[in-house]
Amino acid sequence: MDLTGLYSVTGKSVLITGGVGGIGRMLAEGFAAAGAQLTITGRKPDALAEAVAALRAGGAEVRGVVADLATPEGVAAVADGVRLHGDRLDVLINNAGQTWGAPLADFPAKAWAPVMAVNVQAPFMLAQALLPALRAAAGPDSPARILNIGSVYAETTEVALAYSYTASKAAIHQLTRVLARELAADHILCNAIAPGLFPSKMTGFILRDEERKAHVLGGIPLGRAGTPEDIAGLAMFLCSRAAAYITGAVIPIDGGILIAH
Ligand SMILES: NC(=O)c1ccc[n+]([C@@H]2O[C@H](COP(=O)([O-])OP(=O)(O)OC[C@H]3O[C@@H](n4cnc5c(N)ncnc54)[C@H](OP(=O)(O)O)[C@@H]3O)[C@@H](O)[C@H]2O)c1
Repeated sequence: MDLTGLYSVTGKSVLITGGVGGIGRMLAEGFAAAGAQLTITGRKPDALAEAVAALRAGGAEVRGVVADLATPEGVAAVADGVRLHGDRLDVLINNAGQTWGAPLADFPAKAWAPVMAVNVQAPFMLAQALLPALRAAAGPDSPARILNIGSVYAETTEVALAYSYTASKAAIHQLTRVLARELAADHILCNAIAPGLFPSKMTGFILRDEERKAHVLGGIPLGRAGTPEDIAGLAMFLCSRAAAYITGAVIPIDGGILIAH
């Protein structure tokens, strides 16, 4: 067997929503280092420009699009931004996500719409808007990819007070399977990654509090949080030739959380 290029994503056009910080930035750094052509998104122009500049400093081809994905206009802006630079898109990574925590009795109605809009509706609408570009890039020997960032907390019930979040992540896992089935004939693969604990703004409240951190790490059989190499490695594998026969999968990357709960 010739292994040349089996795990490569070099030269692929890749869109990562929310690439400024957290997991999106980890993915962007991995794909940039691997020689992909990247578009990342963010809501704050300055922070986005800084991230783009830092990624470019390593020699990567990177563009930024400012957009709020809680709105259909924001989704359209991202799709337009991608199309400005070509008719083909090899990889769409729906990473941007929001959460909301409040006790059951006080969980407000306003904690639902933005979480569902960013975590479920935007990934669907982006896939819809970019379907022609994904189709243009796809072929039987080189399928295009949609990669959704779900969560292991869609599968466990240890989801501290994040009711709309856990429901939204279960929804994106199911949407992943539905799209995978429908798009298989177009040679577009659709998979989800379900992270456990990775350092980010979203998980800062856990990692900054020693007691909480010890409790959460205690529930992870491998005893540590995930790293950029862990998550970028899995994402790049799923976008490479090596994963061309995987579709509709939801792959946990959680240090064993799921087998412990
Ligand atoms: N970290 C973990 O342990 C963990 C575990 C399971 C799943 N996840 C998932 O991983 C993904 C990334 O989260 P993270 O942990 O890296 O958290 P984070 O640092 O808070 O990042 C959230 C990302 O989503 C973007 N975003 C949020 N609301 C948005 C909106 N309305 N429009 C556009 N972009 C928006 C943010 O972009 P801005 O730059 O504009 O703020 C940011 O890039 C999420 O889908 C999250 O659910 C994370």
